[in-house]
Amino acid sequence: MVPISLFILGTLITTVISQECVPYSSSFDFSSGYPEVWKKPTDTIFKTDEFKQLYKSIDWSKVPNIPPHKLNAQGDIDQTGYNKSDPDCWWTFNMCTTPKAPGINPDVTVCPEPNTLGLSYDDGPNCSHTVFYDFLKENNQQATMFFIGSNVADLPNEAQRALADGHHICIHTWSHPYMTTLTNEEVLAELYYTRKVIKYVMGVTPLCWRPPFGDCDDRVRAIAQALNLTTIIWNIDTNDWDMQPAGAETLAQIDANFQDFVNMGQNGTFADCGAILLEHELNNGTMAKAVEWYPKLKSAYQHVLPIASCMNYTYPYVETNYTYPSFAQCTNTTTTTTT
Ligand SMILES: *[C@@H]1O[C@H](CO)[C@@H](O)[C@H](O)[C@H]1NC(C)=O
Ligand SMILES: *[C@@H]1O[C@H](CO)[C@@H](O)[C@H](O)[C@H]1NC(C)=O
Ligand SMILES: *[C@@H]1O[C@H](CO)[C@@H](O)[C@H](O)[C@H]1NC(C)=O
Ligand SMILES: *[C@@H]1O[C@H](CO)[C@@H](O)[C@H](O)[C@H]1NC(C)=O
Ligand SMILES: *[C@@H]1O[C@H](CO)[C@@H](O)[C@H](O)[C@H]1NC(C)=O
Ligand SMILES: *[C@@H]1O[C@H](CO)[C@@H](O)[C@H](O)[C@H]1NC(C)=O
Ligand SMILES: *[C@@H]1O[C@H](CO)[C@@H](O)[C@H](O)[C@H]1NC(C)=O
Ligand SMILES: *[C@@H]1O[C@H](CO)[C@@H](O)[C@H](O)[C@H]1NC(C)=O
Repeated sequence: MVPISLFILGTLITTVISQECVPYSSSFDFSSGYPEVWKKPTDTIFKTDEFKQLYKSIDWSKVPNIPPHKLNAQGDIDQTGYNKSDPDCWWTFNMCTTPKAPGINPDVTVCPEPNTLGLSYDDGPNCSHTVFYDFLKENNQQATMFFIGSNVADLPNEAQRALADGHHICIHTWSHPYMTTLTNEEVLAELYYTRKVIKYVMGVTPLCWRPPFGDCDDRVRAIAQALNLTTIIWNIDTNDWDMQPAGAETLAQIDANFQDFVNMGQNGTFADCGAILLEHELNNGTMAKAVEWYPKLKSAYQHVLPIASCMNYTYPYVETNYTYPSFAQCTNTTTTTTT
C-alpha cells in the first residue's frame, strides 16, 4: 500500500472511531457485592462478610510492613524522604522490578524471545472499543488487555467481546489509583473486586495484573501474589495516555515514540530479548494511534503477540478450560497439507 492510501485509511478509522461511543446493552447487576464504580473501596465493602473472610484468608506475615505513600497537592506521589537505597523496590522511585523482600516474585517486564513485541493495552474496556477490536480481529491479532474493574462493570458486553476475540485478560484495579498510597485493605479490595467482576461478567479468573502508573512496591506485590496475580510491567512506553487533546503531549511527540520502537525492532535492540509495549485503550485518539502504528510495528518485529504467548502462559486463567498457544505454537510457521 502506498503512503497516501495509508493516510486516508488512518483518517477514515479516526472518524469512525469517534462515532463509536455507544455502549452495548447490559443485563448485569452490580448493585451489591462491589465497591461503587470509579471509587476507592471503602468501609462499606470492608465490613461485608465476603471481604472479612477474604482478608482473614491472606497470610499477612508474608506482606512487608511498608507504610503507604502520600499524594501531594497536585495529586502525584510524594517521594520526599524516601530512602535512596530503595529498600521497598518502589517502581515509581527508580523503576525497580526485582523485589528486595524475600519470597516475592519479580515483575514480568519483557517478552523474553528475540525480536518479539508483546502488545498490551491498559484501561479498557472503553466506548471507543468496537472499531478497535474489529481492527485487531481483522488482523488476526491478539493482545493483553489490562481491564479496569469499573469499566468492566460499566461496559460488560465490550469486556465479554475481548475474551471472545481471544485477547489475554489481566487486572488493572477497580478505580485506577496509585496503589502504594493505599492501605492493605484498599489494595486487596482494588484487586479482588476487579477479579470478581471479570469472573462475573466474563467467566474467567485472571492470573496477572498491572499497577496503574506502574506504581508498585514489595507490599503491593505481596498482596497481589497472595491473590495468585503475576505483576506485569513494560519496557517501552508510547506515553499515548498523555496525548493531546486529553493530555499534554503533541501527536508528533507520540508519533516519535512509536517511530523509536519501530526503529528498535529493526535495528537489533531486541535481537536477544524482546519488549513489552505499553499503549492505552483510553479514548478514540489513543485507539486511532494504535491502529495507525500497528502495521509498522508488525513489520518491524518478527513476532507481535499477547504477553500470555511470549511467556508460555498456556493456562492464562484459573479455569482450565481456556488454553492459550505457547510461544512455539503461535509462532509455528510449519504448515500441514491436508487432502
Ligand atoms: C535505607 O535502606 C538500606 C537498605 O535497606 C538500609 O540499610 C538503611 O538502614 C536505610 N536507611 C535509613 C535511613 O533508613
Ligand atoms: C473512555 O475513556 C475516556 C477517557 O478516560 C472517558 O472520559 C470516557 O468516559 C470513557 N468512556 C466510557 C464509556 O467508559
Ligand atoms: C491461589 O492458588 C492456590 C493454588 O492453586 C489456591 O489454593 C489458592 O486458593 C489461590 N488463592 C486465591 C486467593 O485465589
Ligand atoms: C535503535 O533505535 C533506537 C530508537 O530510535 C535508538 O535509540 C538506538 O540508538 C538505535 N540503536 C542502534 C544500534 O542503532
Ligand atoms: C475523539 O472524539 C471526540 C468526540 O467525538 C472528538 O471531539 C475528537 O476530535 C476525537 N479525537 C480524535 C483524535 O479522533
Ligand atoms: C517458552 O517455551 C519455549 C519452548 O517451547 C522455551 O524455549 C522458552 O524459553 C519459554 N519461554 C518462557 C518465558 O518460559
Ligand atoms: C469454560 O467453562 C465455563 C464454566 O463451565 C463455561 O461457562 C465456558 O463457556 C467454558 N469456556 C470454554 C472456552 O470452554
Ligand atoms: C508446528 O506445526 C506442525 C504442523 O502443523 C506440527 O506438526 C507441529 O507439532 C507444530 N509444532 C509446535 C511446537 O506446535
